[in-house]
Amino acid sequence: MVERTLVLAKPDAVARGLVGEIIGRLERRGLRLSGLKMIWVDEDLAKKHYAAHRGKPFFDGLVEYITALPVVAMVWEGPSAISVVRQVMGSTDPAKAQPGTIRGDLALDISNNLVHGSDSEESARREISLFFREDEIFSWSRPQERFISGQ
Ligand code: RTP
Ligand code: MG
Repeated sequence: MVERTLVLAKPDAVARGLVGEIIGRLERRGLRLSGLKMIWVDEDLAKKHYAAHRGKPFFDGLVEYITALPVVAMVWEGPSAISVVRQVMGSTDPAKAQPGTIRGDLALDISNNLVHGSDSEESARREISLFFREDEIFSWSRPQERFISGQ
């Protein structure tokens, strides 16, 4: 089934110049880029995005990390895009991630694990709507539709 998922190149990916590497891996896997923007996540958006982790010991650090520098937010589309992105990313803890994955090849620290990918259809819908308006997302399944808002 064709799905959409939210991917963030997190502040450490931006700082280390790995945004192109992340995009390239997802493109080469065959997923299609449907939305892209660089934004500075504020505390309010960070807390909404990571609402599921509120109360956990790493929550405050997570909010601080995701708001420290801009992120590159993306919508990716394709067959089973949600689980395929998670495969390409690798395990949450880079020290345990498989070689060949983004985290397994390029990171070592769970607090600086380079990428975010939605973990379910419900999360994908919720997270995409936090970062993108519907008219900012190109639909590959309806490519004839005009992309530019207001046309
Ligand atoms: P993400 O949401 O960022 O895509 O990562 P994920 O699904 O693989 O991991 P998740 O369980 O949702 O955790 C969100 C982020 O919180 C940080 N974390 N730190 N110190 C810890 O035990 C711990 N556990 C999670 C990670 O940065 C993780 O990406
Ligand atoms: Mg998660």
